[in-house]
Amino acid sequence: MEIVEAIRTRKSIRKFKPQPVSKEMLKEILEIAVRAPSAENTQPWEFFVLAGEVLDKVKTDNITKVRNFEIPPDEMAHILVERPKGSVYRNRQIDIAKQLFSLMDIPREDKAKRASWMERGFRYFDAPAAIIIAGETSLPVHGSYLDAGAVMQNICLAALHFGLHTCIENQGVTYSDVIRKHANIPATKRLMAAIAIGYADWDFPANKVQSDREPIEKSVTWCGL
Ligand SMILES: Cc1cc2nc3c(=O)[nH]c(=O)nc-3n(C[C@H](O)[C@H](O)[C@H](O)COP(=O)(O)O)c2cc1C
Repeated sequence: MEIVEAIRTRKSIRKFKPQPVSKEMLKEILEIAVRAPSAENTQPWEFFVLAGEVLDKVKTDNITKVRNFEIPPDEMAHILVERPKGSVYRNRQIDIAKQLFSLMDIPREDKAKRASWMERGFRYFDAPAAIIIAGETSLPVHGSYLDAGAVMQNICLAALHFGLHTCIENQGVTYSDVIRKHANIPATKRLMAAIAIGYADWDFPANKVQSDREPIEKSVTWCGL
């Protein structure tokens, strides 16, 4: 797929077909993705690719914790931080939620439907595979996340070349203790994000969402041109 087309058409997918993704394909995607730049070529990323029984166990334990309203481990507290009320960030967050709820026919006051929608991310939107992006805790946080962001976008774009779609998710690493247990990840690794990956189910209403973007005039300051 042509690069600009890939960037323009990538979108977050929130329901996948059960069809498995081969290990070979996932390996190729990661091999392409690690061409991402990183500060001083430190390549501070590590990947834990979950599928099959391991992923099933993670999904089950995540859902149990969500249903029990379990507070995530302290190391993941940053994920729960809310954007300031009235800020553009909060408003954009509300806009995408409204779009998704409208497509899914979830009324604002329907708590049961909202809870069931929220659970989807904790089971990786039924994807047959999930990639956990991790890195050494001994490395500085900001650099690790910057470099992880670059490699994550590469994964999402490279996936398109293979007919696969993705959703980057914080929800997927919220219960880091569950992932650590089933994927055997030591405390010396920071869990930064998850990427659900698989074949998109285009019949699922939420997959039709087209998220908005602000015109670049709002974010660009031209200096000297
Ligand atoms: C770091 C990060 C974390 C995200 N976490 C979630 C998540 O937990 N659940 C979810 O449904 N989407 C999640 N997303 C997807 C965003 O909601 C999505 O990228 C945004 O709404 C723009 O839509 P698009 O990806 O379709 O262009 C996340 C994206 C990023 C970059």
